[in-house]
Amino acid sequence: MTRTVTILGATGSVGRSTLDVVAQHRDRFRVVAVAGGSDAAALACCAKAVGAAFAAIADPGAGELLRDALAGTGIASGAGAAALREAAEREADIVVAAISGAAGLGPTYAALTAGRTIALANKETLVCAGEAFMRDARRLGAQILPMDSEHNALLQALAAGRAGDVESMVLTASGGPFRTWPRERMAHATPEEAAAHPTYAMGMKINVDSASLMNKGLELIEAHHLFGLADDRLDVVVHPQSIVHGLVRWRDGGLTAALSLPDMRIPIAHCLGLGERLALAGDRLDLARIGALTFEPVDATRFPCLGLARAALRAGGALPTVLNAANEVAVAAFLQRRIGFLDISAVVEEACLWGASKGWPAPSSIEEALAIDSETRRRTAEWLRQAPLSPPHRDRRSA
Ligand SMILES: NC(=O)c1ccc[n+]([C@@H]2O[C@H](COP(=O)([O-])OP(=O)(O)OC[C@H]3O[C@@H](n4cnc5c(N)ncnc54)[C@H](OP(=O)(O)O)[C@@H]3O)[C@@H](O)[C@H]2O)c1
Repeated sequence: MTRTVTILGATGSVGRSTLDVVAQHRDRFRVVAVAGGSDAAALACCAKAVGAAFAAIADPGAGELLRDALAGTGIASGAGAAALREAAEREADIVVAAISGAAGLGPTYAALTAGRTIALANKETLVCAGEAFMRDARRLGAQILPMDSEHNALLQALAAGRAGDVESMVLTASGGPFRTWPRERMAHATPEEAAAHPTYAMGMKINVDSASLMNKGLELIEAHHLFGLADDRLDVVVHPQSIVHGLVRWRDGGLTAALSLPDMRIPIAHCLGLGERLALAGDRLDLARIGALTFEPVDATRFPCLGLARAALRAGGALPTVLNAANEVAVAAFLQRRIGFLDISAVVEEACLWGASKGWPAPSSIEEALAIDSETRRRTAEWLRQAPLSPPHRDRRSA
């Protein structure tokens, strides 16, 4: 039977990989709706390639371009938040949530409340509003399929035993492009250098998060919500080859790992298969050729973002929401060359201190999470305008 799929974030890295998996199984999947941010031409291209019934673009100013690009195809389109909600709520067997950042929260939640099964790549949904989102998922009996490669690996590894026998879980991190860089060099890193991920081709925001290891911090919080483990039962280890994606440690000391080449199509296919392993073309992992799989601890001094995320998870309340919003503002400022790479963690740390002083409880609804997100963004942007500049930051401003 044909399975229907909606792709939120269809023009992005995960979205395009999803389209590739679907294209390898045209007889099994039909894409009913696609959604994107602002690139109308790319979105129209995706919609036409899969013959979607509906395309939604978040940027209201891009609606006319999208409509023109789809003229004569019979594909309906819309722009703005309501159109995104419409795409998310359309009848579909699976909604792939692959919008980047907190912008994914509203559409992903709309899909959840419409009763859809969600293949979740947008980790920010759980970081910003994990308690409310998982509570409502349980209430609605909705299935949340982890699409992030580490969480998908953990789901696969969990199948080897009973949930009650899990002692801890380990997420692996590639270490990013700055794994071996001294701190002084990191201070002067450019966006281009941060974007050069050693093992995955991804969007810019997640690239920078991978370089700072904030991505692993966000994933810790995501794992906490998906698998219900406290932070002291969630470990991170650096594994530069990105072959082992996640490990479950059982109470007898044994470990179960899931391995694959670093290719997002594998966790995507695992989600779309709903328990069945779909055939996928592509290279196969050749362990003898790789030769060695290495592991090393995280250097907390050079990568403070992971510690900040763990502290936010431990403190609870609205701190993960604040951490995520401040990080998005800081990453955007870094990409615009307004701050240096190491300033990202400084901005997030300052915002978390401010957030802790507020004492906000964990958001009990998506609306509350979005309100805290926007208050933190406003305040962090303001703080950035007034903050004393670090040397690399000052160099950039005067350049
Ligand atoms: N890339 C990976 O390998 C990977 C792995 C695991 C998890 N993830 C997670 O998956 C999500 C997507 O990552 P990505 O690397 O695919 O990002 P990406 O390449 O930057 O793509 C982002 C997608 O979101 C859309 N978008 C941006 N702003 C939007 C808005 N305000 N409203 C609606 N749509 C918007 C973009 O549309 P436009 O093209 O029009 O801008 C694009 O389709 C992130 O949460 C990331 O952490 C990614």
